[in-house]
Amino acid sequence: MVSWSVADIPDQNGRSAVVTGANGGLGLETARELARRGAHVLMAVRNLQKAEAAVTDIRATVPDASLELVALDLGSQASVREAAEGILLVHERIDLLVNNAGVMGIPERKTVDGFEMQFGVDHLGHWTLTALLLPVLLGSPEARIVTVTSTAHHMGRAVDPKNPHLDGRYRPWRAYGQAKLANFHFGLGLQRRLDQAGASAASLIAHPGLSNTDLQTVSVQETGGGASQRFFQMLARRTGMPAAQGALSQLRAATDPGARGGEFYGPLFVNNGPPVRKPIFRGIGLNRAIAKLWEVSERETGVAPL
Ligand SMILES: NC(=O)c1ccc[n+]([C@@H]2O[C@H](COP(=O)([O-])OP(=O)(O)OC[C@H]3O[C@@H](n4cnc5c(N)ncnc54)[C@H](OP(=O)(O)O)[C@@H]3O)[C@@H](O)[C@H]2O)c1
Repeated sequence: MVSWSVADIPDQNGRSAVVTGANGGLGLETARELARRGAHVLMAVRNLQKAEAAVTDIRATVPDASLELVALDLGSQASVREAAEGILLVHERIDLLVNNAGVMGIPERKTVDGFEMQFGVDHLGHWTLTALLLPVLLGSPEARIVTVTSTAHHMGRAVDPKNPHLDGRYRPWRAYGQAKLANFHFGLGLQRRLDQAGASAASLIAHPGLSNTDLQTVSVQETGGGASQRFFQMLARRTGMPAAQGALSQLRAATDPGARGGEFYGPLFVNNGPPVRKPIFRGIGLNRAIAKLWEVSERETGVAPL
C-alpha cells in the first residue's frame, strides 16, 4: 500500500510503547499517534522540561493520551540501566520499542562512558536499552523493536573493532554515517538473533527521509555554525517534511500488521513521500559487519540483546 497514513494505524489499546527522544521532532509525533490509537506511551527522554511541554502538546490534540515520562540519557550507560530498571519494575509487558533518539553531525565529544557521542547515543545507548528491555518485549505476543536509521547510513563505514570511537580519525559526518549504519546493522542483526531464538518479536528499521526537526538546528548550534550543518538545516527547512509526516515510516514499521521482522521502511521518494517498504541491499560484507557490531557493542557495554 503506497498511500499509508496514520488512519491505517490499527487499534493500540492494551499495548505499551517505549519511544526514545519523544520530547521533540519525530519521537514526539510517533508518541502522539501511538497514544491517539490507544497505546500507553512511555516517553523516554533526557530533557524533562521539554518533555512536559511535549506532554501538553500531545494532550492538546489527544486529550485522553496515556503517557508516562521516563528519564533517559542515552549518553550514559548508567542512565540507560536506571531507565530500563524503572520500566521493568512497573511493566510486565512492553509491546513496542522505538529506538528513535539521536544526534547528528556534531563536533567530537565523548559520552560519560568515553564513547564517541554519535555512536554512543544513537547506537550504544539503544543497544543497552534494547538488551535490558528484551525480557519484557519477549513477553508480549507480537512485540516489535523499530530502530531509526537515516539515508546517511549509505555514507557510513561499518564499525572497526580496533577503533570504534574514531580516535584520531574523527569527522562529524563520518561519525554520523557510522552511527546510522550501526542502527541499520543492529536492526537486521537483531532480527537474525530473534529468528534463531524462535522468538515471535520482530526487529524492523525505518528512516524518515529529510524532516524539518531540531536535528539540523542542534548540529548547527553544536558546531558553532558549521557550513555543511547549515546547508542541511537550510535544506530541511526548505524541502524537508514536517515532523508528523517524517514520523510515518517509523510508525508504519511499528504498527502495520503486514510489516515483518527484518524489513526496512522509508519515504517513497528517498527523502519524502508516503512511507513504503524499501529494499535492503545485502552486499558482500553484511554478515561480517553485523558480527563486528555485536563484538564491539557487547565489549563496550557488557550486555547483548540475545
Ligand atoms: N530529521 C531528519 O531529517 C532525519 C533524517 C534521518 C534520520 N533522522 C533520525 O531521526 C531520529 C529523530 O531525530 P529528529 O529528526 O526527530 O531530531 P530532533 O528533533 O533533534 O530529536 C532528537 C531527539 O533525540 C533526543 N536525544 C538527543 N540526545 C539524547 C540523549 N543523550 N539521550 C536521550 N535523548 C537524546 C533529543 O532529546 P533532547 O531534547 O534531550 O536533546 C530529541 O528528543 C534520529 O535518530 C535521527 O538520526 C532524522
